[in-house]
Amino acid sequence: METARASRTAVLVCQGRAVADGRAAVGRFADPVAVRLLRDDERRAVEQARAPELPSDVRERLVVEMLRATAQGMVARTVAIDDAITGAGHRQVVILGAGLDTRPWRLGALREAVTFAVDHPASQADARERSDALTPVGRLEYVPVDLSTDDLGVALTRAGHDPAAATTWVWEGVVPYLTDDDVRATVAALAERSAPGSVLVVQYQTRSWTATAGRQLSRLVLRLTRTGDPLTAEPWRSLWSPKAMAGMLAEHGFPVEEDDDLLTIAGRLGSPATRRRSLANGRVAVATRP
Ligand SMILES: C[S@@+](CC[C@H](N)C(=O)[O-])C[C@H]1O[C@@H](n2cnc3c(N)ncnc32)[C@H](O)[C@@H]1O
Repeated sequence: METARASRTAVLVCQGRAVADGRAAVGRFADPVAVRLLRDDERRAVEQARAPELPSDVRERLVVEMLRATAQGMVARTVAIDDAITGAGHRQVVILGAGLDTRPWRLGALREAVTFAVDHPASQADARERSDALTPVGRLEYVPVDLSTDDLGVALTRAGHDPAAATTWVWEGVVPYLTDDDVRATVAALAERSAPGSVLVVQYQTRSWTATAGRQLSRLVLRLTRTGDPLTAEPWRSLWSPKAMAGMLAEHGFPVEEDDDLLTIAGRLGSPATRRRSLANGRVAVATRP
């Protein structure tokens, strides 16, 4: 991503969660905090996407369709990751590329934990400003790190992360924005700080022409609507097959136990899944260090 600007894809996925709150997989998915992290114009688009009727303005309608599609993926990946964090029950949770992830303010499993929110400095500054009025459920430490250039281990040591205690690592929606080399380097760095029993949850994208075409379409929508195009500033750089991801994680001592696509997860939750191909291209892998 560009170094001076906060992530706009972080806003987009936050909007997706706000659209889905109380509308999809009720009882399994809830994110009442997401809307509180949005600015007025971003919130207005969410309200339009939650309304039963489509806006009459064509450009607004395109944004609504895009946010509704985004919401479908957010429900599946959020529940799968929440469940993995809660199941692991660790006292240390590191969120890599946290963006506007609302877990520090809403997830009960973090009450007794210290959560390290790691993100690119520009995105982190924006997230801190937006969440200023909120109180985290547990202890929250901010760790500004550019995963392409900075030393993750040094930054985590400075922030008080304890490599001798088991950690749950959450890496949601970030892998596509890093190069393959940066992905490998990040896994190597976190593996060095992972005591036995540590859990790594990775949400990533597989390569497919439908995913690429969907992204092109979203870019077009954003351009047409003059919403500002986050996808150009944040191009996809690395897409992984489940086999390649499992092989790379195993090399670093994290054998994969589960790896499901978002369509399968949405099916289990009974949440909306009209964007079947797009959902099928997103995956959540859970790996545990023996
Ligand atoms: C699509 S957002 C996902 C945010 C959050 N994980 C979520 O799912 O809501 C992508 C995130 O990756 C972060 N990111 C992208 N490149 C990065 C880098 N080189 N170093 C650190 N974070 C990066 C962005 O700052 C942004 O927060």
